[in-house]
Amino acid sequence: MKNKSLTFKIFLSTFSVGVLVYFLCALVFITNMYGYFEKKIFEELKTESTLLEGYNLSENSEDLSVLSELKTQNRITLIHTDGTVYFDNTVDASGMENHALRSEFLKAKEDGMSTSSRYSSTMLEKTLYFAKLLENGDVLRISCDQHTVGVLVLGMSQILLIMLVIAMIISGVTASILSKKIIEPLNKINLENPESSDVYEELKPFTKRIAEENFEKSQREELRQQFTANVSHELKTPLTSISGFAEILKQGGTDEKTTKDFADTIYEESQRMIALVNDIIKLSKLDEKSISLEKEPLSLREITREAIEVITPIAEKKNVSLNLSGDSGLINGVRPVIYEMVYNLIDNAVKYNNEKGIVSIRIETITETHNVILTVQDNGIGIPEREKERIFERFYRIDKSRSRELGGTGLGLSIVKHAAKYHNASVLVESKEGDGSTFKVIFIL
Ligand SMILES: Nc1ncnc2c1ncn2[C@@H]1O[C@H](COP(=O)(O)OP(=O)(O)OP(=O)(O)O)[C@@H](O)[C@H]1O
Ligand SMILES: [Mg+2]
Repeated sequence: MKNKSLTFKIFLSTFSVGVLVYFLCALVFITNMYGYFEKKIFEELKTESTLLEGYNLSENSEDLSVLSELKTQNRITLIHTDGTVYFDNTVDASGMENHALRSEFLKAKEDGMSTSSRYSSTMLEKTLYFAKLLENGDVLRISCDQHTVGVLVLGMSQILLIMLVIAMIISGVTASILSKKIIEPLNKINLENPESSDVYEELKPFTKRIAEENFEKSQREELRQQFTANVSHELKTPLTSISGFAEILKQGGTDEKTTKDFADTIYEESQRMIALVNDIIKLSKLDEKSISLEKEPLSLREITREAIEVITPIAEKKNVSLNLSGDSGLINGVRPVIYEMVYNLIDNAVKYNNEKGIVSIRIETITETHNVILTVQDNGIGIPEREKERIFERFYRIDKSRSRELGGTGLGLSIVKHAAKYHNASVLVESKEGDGSTFKVIFIL
């Protein structure tokens, strides 16, 4: 059974601890008291035996009739040295069996006196014996019956039950007070700023976690706002120019060449907007981790070759040569996402290259680990050390005007980073300003 009430849990533990302690105490107390009383009884029996020795204790003595009249709670037995019982103040002695083998008799004969105890067959009673060797060789035995510990406990069962009820009430009250006290500061925690709240030391990790989550949440919120602002800005620029050129065309009167130039610009700018929107869609798809894109075995080399084919005409315009080497690079991935990643890296290597530059693309499979490494190296303009981290941010461009001229929106490397993360791959950059850059994507199997 799953009980989620704190009060009940505290009740259960205080109650069980209480009951356990109570029973332990009771047990120790009862056994101690019992032992003490037993000792007292033996002492009493011994005293009585000394008193009885004032009588003439022997077979056929006249004093025996006095003994049988004696007002005592205890049983007095006189045993002949051979074990036959010749007097008993409670039953007819002649009917009693021989006591020669009784331990108290034997021990008294040996040591002068002895004590012993025996349980009754029902275990409800215990008989304590004190035996003493008389001068004439007979043995005087005095005994009394006592309740056993079990009977005592049973007799106390009413008190025990009352104590249990009291324990239950105390535990219940304690539990309800305690749980209220424990919960009170919890309810007072300021969730906006949990670390300012005065809470238990044990709760510090909890408030710290909330604070961290709050911080992450506000950061995510800030990023989202930034992203929205960036998107609006990026869309506004081409839209403004489209609207401007369209306005002029609308008024009419432009010659045929100008009209065509304007139409070209409008077309280019709208293409740019489409590309931007497409990039945003790709990014948000990669962001939504809930949508799981189907992964399949892919040859990284084959995909790279496709990308190279598309980029070659652009590269040729700049006299940049592209060369591909290495093995087939088998990975498990989402084809369009991998394509986008490879395309962006090669596209950058061409875009940020100089006239007659060289782009080398290499695919390697590490034999032991089967990890696959994609290297895209160029000898272009390079990346300053301080920009290396930032280039992966959305919309981040080192040289805004140059990148824009080249039709870039600054989303390419952001897509690369997300695509790599999606495939459990890491991206590394090595670059020296003016010497070129090397991007490595390591697919960890
Ligand atoms: N190979 C490279 N050599 C030098 N600079 C680079 C290289 N690759 C990226 N960069 C720098 O990093 C910036 C961000 O690159 P990213 O690919 O994200 O955007 P982009 O190329 O400007 O636009 P997009 O890829 O969206 O068309 C670029 O603007 C450029 O300044
Ligand atoms: Mg790019």
